[in-house]
Amino acid sequence: MTDRAGRTQTARIDGNDQVLVGWPFSPLSSRESVDVSARVTLSDGTTSAWSDPLRIETGLLRRDDWTAGLVVPSAEAPRTGPRGAWLLRSQFDLERAPVSARLYVTAQGIYRAEINGGRVGDDELAPGWTSYDHRLRAQAYDVTEHIVAGGNALGFELADGWFRGNIGFDGGLWDFYGSQIGIVAQLELVGHDGSVRVVDLDRGWKSSPSATTATALYEGENYDARLFDRQWSSWGFDDSLWTRPEVRDLATVAARIEHAVAEPVRQIEELHPTAVDYLPNGRIRLDFGQNISGRLAFTTTGPAGHILRFHHAEVLEDNELAVRPLRRATSVDSYVFSGHGEETWQPVFTIHGFRYAELEGWPQDSLAPDAVRAVVLHTDMDRTGWFAVDHPQLQQLHDNTVWSMRDNFVDLPTDCPQRDERMGWTGDIQVFAPAALFLYGSGGVLDSWLRDVSDEQGADGSVPNFVPWVPCGFPEASSAVWGDAATVVPWTMWEQLGDRGILAQQYPSMTGWVDHLARRADPDGAVRTGFALGDWLDPVAPPEDPGAARTDRYLVTTAYLVRSARIAAETAEILDDPVAAVKHAAIAQHALAGFRKEWVLPSRELVGESPTALALAICFDLFELDEHRTRAGSRLAEMVAEGGYVIPTGFVGTPIICDALATTGHIDAAYSLLLQTECPSWLYPITMGATTIWERWDSMLPDGQINPGDMTSFNHYALGAVVDFLHRSVAGLAPLEPGYRRVRVAPLPGASVNAASTRHDSAYGPIEVSWRRDDDNFDLVVHVPFGVTAEVELPWSQGVSHVAAGRHEFHIPIQSISHSVL
Ligand code: BGC
Repeated sequence: MTDRAGRTQTARIDGNDQVLVGWPFSPLSSRESVDVSARVTLSDGTTSAWSDPLRIETGLLRRDDWTAGLVVPSAEAPRTGPRGAWLLRSQFDLERAPVSARLYVTAQGIYRAEINGGRVGDDELAPGWTSYDHRLRAQAYDVTEHIVAGGNALGFELADGWFRGNIGFDGGLWDFYGSQIGIVAQLELVGHDGSVRVVDLDRGWKSSPSATTATALYEGENYDARLFDRQWSSWGFDDSLWTRPEVRDLATVAARIEHAVAEPVRQIEELHPTAVDYLPNGRIRLDFGQNISGRLAFTTTGPAGHILRFHHAEVLEDNELAVRPLRRATSVDSYVFSGHGEETWQPVFTIHGFRYAELEGWPQDSLAPDAVRAVVLHTDMDRTGWFAVDHPQLQQLHDNTVWSMRDNFVDLPTDCPQRDERMGWTGDIQVFAPAALFLYGSGGVLDSWLRDVSDEQGADGSVPNFVPWVPCGFPEASSAVWGDAATVVPWTMWEQLGDRGILAQQYPSMTGWVDHLARRADPDGAVRTGFALGDWLDPVAPPEDPGAARTDRYLVTTAYLVRSARIAAETAEILDDPVAAVKHAAIAQHALAGFRKEWVLPSRELVGESPTALALAICFDLFELDEHRTRAGSRLAEMVAEGGYVIPTGFVGTPIICDALATTGHIDAAYSLLLQTECPSWLYPITMGATTIWERWDSMLPDGQINPGDMTSFNHYALGAVVDFLHRSVAGLAPLEPGYRRVRVAPLPGASVNAASTRHDSAYGPIEVSWRRDDDNFDLVVHVPFGVTAEVELPWSQGVSHVAAGRHEFHIPIQSISHSVL
């Protein structure tokens, strides 16, 4: 490690850990910057070359590093919005340009920064949404290139965002976190002598309403280009008519200020319309061919004062934009032309979920190519997982799931990106976490969100049903499956990333949740009372009553108590807390006894057996003997066959039903469910042209009408959780030891699927599995990176091999396999 003064320190770490190795030097303090290189010495004494240096820089780690105040545009805001955004500017002179400059920012509201007329950073909707009463996230920008000798100006545009805008469903709440928005901006310059100077911006702030005349996340944005002056963030701009905002002492902000631990939201890509329709009412309808979360951008000319409006929708119904599913999220943007030549605009402080858009008032008769683009926005995570299969509809299911993940990882994991909701529903990410962590480097987003889960957890361990919590009328009491995100998400992160640190960070939250649920249990261990969403959206539930499932909601609750208590016990062991490990193992055992007493008959059948109940008992290992589990698997296979292989499960059973069938030897039944196209099934929406995963199996009915329920989204990742089965079982790659240190390769060929492959970029490197079969041969190729070992289990019980790093090929002549097992 080399610091800025050129001082080098080295440390030697014994052991064979390759990733997440503890920092061997003293902790860095605020603003420290070092270059780190590593090299490896093998047991035979051979030593590698030093790696290229990696630059690491810390931000402001202590609260008292922050000396800037909270700058609050002073005017009284109307009681409800959408309200306009504000401009804030401050300027300063420098004799000499600095060696380096950093801008540290956080806000109550959402902001965009400029220095000397140029945009700072490329993040969107910063600082994002956290549990603002507890925690504000800060960004650090390298602004060295922006700062010049002489006059400089710094400007922010600041809008309500989640802090003060309307959030939540059933009417939502305005001003939930506060009635004033504000920005904290600390600009630090490093001089030629190495000294750090904090620029005094706070005495110079001026504010003015911006050209963004109204903006809100659900409603959309209005912008009047006639009000915009390009010079607003430049030195010397005449701000004499602007007002002086109030600058409050930062001590008035009770929340912690933490630097972000995830990548920011960014503009990821632009889509062009795949179809353009000129409608009789004068509107132009665009189909972007893909349901996204993002916004429209346009470039064109128009007369001063002319108004252009954008309307958004996910689907069409009766050849109209279907806006009913958006509920109160009107999702309309408008732009007033300045009349000065070619104008380019996209909204800044709003975001929509849409595939279709209509332009009302397009100034020309036709649309030039590229004149309107759809800009995809989400957290800029690295892609880490891929899957390919020779079955086009199954491939589309996977692709749609990837899109639903992208569309719902906009700073935090949400249920949906389009209607007046977009909340961090705990149950949705609880079931989707394995898929999310395989597909993308989503550990940062989940780490950040779990901090909010801990912060918002009740003193009694209760976990809100969505986080951040907004009291908009939904029951406050916790529900199993949803609250179990507190244990399952960190545990999944441990399995997928091997990060013990996340377990240590979440441990109090994990055990708090288990203790909470355990306190709800009867003396015999079963939970029979309290709020429980149960097997939400069971296909038999009527549209207006999505909780009316065929599975007993307390069977589900008790099964989850067993699961979470086991996770807590294992976590306690990993964290060297043997007393807690024993305690939580006992809670699990007691709940299991209660489960068996209440729901397993002496005949070993489940009471009121339903596919979800059977799948839970199989996958959560709730039976006493293997033969009971085997029998339950056969019963489940029978039930799905009797049902004609359509989906018989809700939120709880759907992610695990294929596993329950496959692990009890009913691979064909799992494939029959997976490849079904009649509704309800995973592939039915594909036959209806879906490009994302729907909330309901029949969000769109076979006749093209939209489900009459008032909860009908076309972009919910939860039912896409089955892609985890595609990765682990169809292609056949699963972690066996945390972080993919050891993996299990066990492909399951079946039905009409004749080839599948998957790749996961683990911290150790890419791991690849690919197989293909025809009438004569089955071929499997496995790539294992250095440091990883694999247990390869060939299909049709053709043997198990253990392999280390390298490329490995396996071949099975099909004739050698007895027909009965094929
Ligand atoms: C959300 C779901 C959520 C459910 C639970 C819905 O409104 O969109 O995804 O988990 O409510 O009640």
